[in-house]
Amino acid sequence: MSAEPSEFATLKFRDKEVVLPVVTGTEGEKGLDITGLRKSTGLVALDPGFVNTASCYSQITYIDGEKGILRYRGIPIEELVQKVMFVDVAYLLVHGELPDEETRREFSSQLNTNSLIHEDMRHFFDHFPKGSHPMHILSTMINAMAAFYPNVDIKSMADNIDQSCARVISIVRTMAAFAYKKSIGEPVVYPRYDLSYCANFLNMMFDSPVKPYQIRPEIVRLLNILFIIHADHEQNCSTSAVRVIGSAQVNLYATISAGISALSGPLHGGANQAVIEMLRTIQEDGDINKFIRMAKDKNNPFRLMGFGHRVYKTYDPRAAIVRGECEKFFHQYKYSDPLLDVARKVEEIALTDPYFIERHLYPNVDFYTGILYRAIGIPENMFTVMFALARLPGWVAHWREMIGDSTKLVRPRQIYSGRGLRHISPPDAGD
Ligand code: ACO
Repeated sequence: MSAEPSEFATLKFRDKEVVLPVVTGTEGEKGLDITGLRKSTGLVALDPGFVNTASCYSQITYIDGEKGILRYRGIPIEELVQKVMFVDVAYLLVHGELPDEETRREFSSQLNTNSLIHEDMRHFFDHFPKGSHPMHILSTMINAMAAFYPNVDIKSMADNIDQSCARVISIVRTMAAFAYKKSIGEPVVYPRYDLSYCANFLNMMFDSPVKPYQIRPEIVRLLNILFIIHADHEQNCSTSAVRVIGSAQVNLYATISAGISALSGPLHGGANQAVIEMLRTIQEDGDINKFIRMAKDKNNPFRLMGFGHRVYKTYDPRAAIVRGECEKFFHQYKYSDPLLDVARKVEEIALTDPYFIERHLYPNVDFYTGILYRAIGIPENMFTVMFALARLPGWVAHWREMIGDSTKLVRPRQIYSGRGLRHISPPDAGD
């Protein structure tokens, strides 16, 4: 980011003229700084969905949606998935650098120390109705953490960022696995000190007193990759929720809980589950073209789930990684999944159809992730939970950056479009 703006834009409104600085990001992206707009002209900016709005400066993640670039702290996502583990990426996002060996050992040890849930909280799981969606359980449980763990004020949590970060990343993983075990009526499995982050999660999910879980390195590797590609994505809906809620200086747990709630929506993190449901429906029906027609029909609310993205106007680099891993894994371990065949065909048809070409609609990260999660053995109602676990370091990193920047309380304006002034009729005499 350049220190002093060298370009300016002039905006004229009636008899007023305001000169607005143009700011430049590290990679040359330009933004019009309108912080002085209202004061100078009385105008506010109207931008529903924040399609044209940069809400902050951030040093965490860089995306070029036109070129399909995604980097965490400057490092391309393609290098990270090949060379490091999820825990390293978590540290990178929060601290800005990959950990050296000693730091990594310390951070891993902190993750282990913080992996146990307060025993009194464990009993909460017994009281959710059978069939509750694990995302609902998760957001509730995280919010409740503030009541169980002391020093949740923003300063204490920021001063002990490693501890805060390790606790939230580690405990949420345990909670997610417990929520799943409860949903299938099995006893919970406690975290193990000797296992890595992803292996530990898989063990808590799938180990049982009657069938010990065999940890397979190739599955642990896949989970690491899936977690890394989801770990951050700059100012997406849930991260923006984290920043908005966090700007009120609520505690980190409440902030993360808000992020999880935002992520649960089908237009955001819930899309990976919706993709599998859609692929299954298409498979049962057998007529792919019918669904492509439905997606293009403006009178039909159906959308091709896992397609399109607010930022990427080309192939989502994360989708490219997942598709590549899917093909490799299925081939190498002789897996098959009829939904992968359907997905390949849907992609092939859509990418040659003018409707999708003209609108730059390509597979997004969610299009193939569900297929890989199915191969790992993750049940469908846990897909969005997996996304949440992976996104935790990103949320924590943004929360930390935001409070460090002493950002103002987020409080947008509006253009009021309701009724004009009116009064209540006087009450009848004698009442
Ligand atoms: N299927 C069919 N048409 C689509 C799709 C789709 N998946 N996505 C966008 N379009 C069309 C819209 O109808 C619109 O057409 P129009 O210009 O003729 O009106 C045009 O493409 C632009 O779409 P918008 O909705 O304006 O794009 P926006 O950036 O607001 O939406 C979104 C992005 C929400 C992701 C959208 O593409 C979508 O709903 N996709 C399906 C849901 C999904 O996969 N979500 C996961 C996103 S990734 C993530 O959150 C991790």
